[in-house]
Amino acid sequence: MKIAEELKKRRTFAIISHPDAGKTTLTEKLLLFGGAIQTAGAVKSNKIKKTATSDFMEIEKQRGISVATSVMVFNYSGVQVNLLDTPGHKDFAEDTYRTLTAVDSVILVIDCVKGVEEQTEKLMNVCRMRNTPVIVFINKMDREGRDPFDLLDELEEKLNIKVRPLSWPIGIGARFKGVYNLYEKNLNLFNASKTTIDRNIVGIKDLDDKTLDEQVGEEPANKLREDVDLIEGVYESFDNEPYLKGSLAPVFFGSALNNFGVQELLDTFIRISPTPAGRQADTRFVNPDEDAFSGFVFKIHANLDPRHRDRIAFLRVCSGRFERNKFFHHVRLNKDLKFSNPVTFMAQDKNLIEEAYAGDVVGLYDTGSFKIGDTLTEGENFLFQGVPSFSPELFKEVENKDPMKSKQLEKGLSQLTDEGVAQLFTQQPGNRKIIGTVGELQFEVIQYRLKNEYNASCEFRPLNYYKACWVTSDNKVALEEFLRLKSNYIVTDKDGNFVFLAQSEWILGMARENHPDVQFHFTSEFKREAAAKAKA
Ligand code: G4P
Repeated sequence: MKIAEELKKRRTFAIISHPDAGKTTLTEKLLLFGGAIQTAGAVKSNKIKKTATSDFMEIEKQRGISVATSVMVFNYSGVQVNLLDTPGHKDFAEDTYRTLTAVDSVILVIDCVKGVEEQTEKLMNVCRMRNTPVIVFINKMDREGRDPFDLLDELEEKLNIKVRPLSWPIGIGARFKGVYNLYEKNLNLFNASKTTIDRNIVGIKDLDDKTLDEQVGEEPANKLREDVDLIEGVYESFDNEPYLKGSLAPVFFGSALNNFGVQELLDTFIRISPTPAGRQADTRFVNPDEDAFSGFVFKIHANLDPRHRDRIAFLRVCSGRFERNKFFHHVRLNKDLKFSNPVTFMAQDKNLIEEAYAGDVVGLYDTGSFKIGDTLTEGENFLFQGVPSFSPELFKEVENKDPMKSKQLEKGLSQLTDEGVAQLFTQQPGNRKIIGTVGELQFEVIQYRLKNEYNASCEFRPLNYYKACWVTSDNKVALEEFLRLKSNYIVTDKDGNFVFLAQSEWILGMARENHPDVQFHFTSEFKREAAAKAKA
């Protein structure tokens, strides 16, 4: 009974956006409402703004900040909100994708001037893989942005999702007067206040109410009436079902910087967003209200203190109750482990916790037992699915600069890639090590951390590949034939799976056409599917 009650009280989500749309600002305002921080400016942006020539201290600093703010827990309206932070920089996109496997819904922030941007589309594709419910917040309404109807059309077109506005702006930029709440049918009048949380809500009977004209002026009031008419005609009324299935996104307008429209967003989020959902494991579906504990690791973070080689593994609880000092089963290692100082995160502080329930994220001190995707249970043998590695797009060969330290280099590369910083491939003959990433910055991070944490030096030689994809086939002969023909472009990943490095899109296309019996996989999901098949 207790478990079901705990579940009802929890919401676990992430805010996603293209860099600079206002994710950090919105996070901060939500924490203000949740009482987790007292003043604006307390949350540091965890993005690395410089790209090519980032200085390493900056990276270190950022890593420190992002540990502290990886999970932010706050209470609002009797609900425990777990907000999982995602890195802003696009080179860390893979980290973001994995974090998205640990949430139950997302808030997507759009800049009203820029509309849907590149990173927005990529992140939404990942959400769609798991049908994650999405609420859209169109931010920066105090700036001269685009027409709201055009923005809605663009969202539907580019993100391939139906939208339904739940609030509507009155004017924009210098003429921005406030928003009309289509759900509550009241007006929230805009006044630029960056730190306080007061609202100027005006109740109106209906849109014909003359108070509206008095408050915002006759012309804007008439425009609002026209707009709302159009909205009610064009969009179906809001329904929670398709939102929870991930096919309909409610849309809010506001200005995070001015603390405007944020509370409506938060109130609605608390009301409509899903409680912690179950997760698919290889042998069965695991429900969040089951008595037995289970969870999976979706992120690993190196400890900043160079004297300690330990790391923090972030575990999402999926069912039952996690308890401090209780033995749990590490399925991959077939080993029982207990944790004497698991932590939870309150804004910038880490706190020891005694227990946690589905939806919660627990930080576990780890000395190398965990890899991303690992499952802990109360004894049952199953592995959670859905913490995929994505096919990398940048490749470099590792050249050891200090032959006396090859052991350290090997260990460093292996541990850093366990953390998900990058993917490690091996090419024969010669045991050549190739690193694959989604961003250039990862190479700098790896080089820097190898030197500082493992005392190993390396350089990278760029390789010109377009994409890496895992190859499998039920037809052994066909697979062997492919591996033989492409032997110069075949490498293995850390688990010994074959990976094809395609030099260009065209070559990849030809390979797929000429080898119809070979399957090309662009995420590592297939590994779990294969394992499940083998078990069955
Ligand atoms: P991110 O985490 O998504 O990358 O974005 P972040 O919140 O850091 O916001 C990016 C920039 O946009 C910041 O300005 C921030 O102040 C500004 N911003 C956020 N919300 C609003 C809004 O509602 N209206 C307006 N006009 N601006 C907004 P910056 O100059 O890059 O940084 P800062 O020096 O202000 O921190």
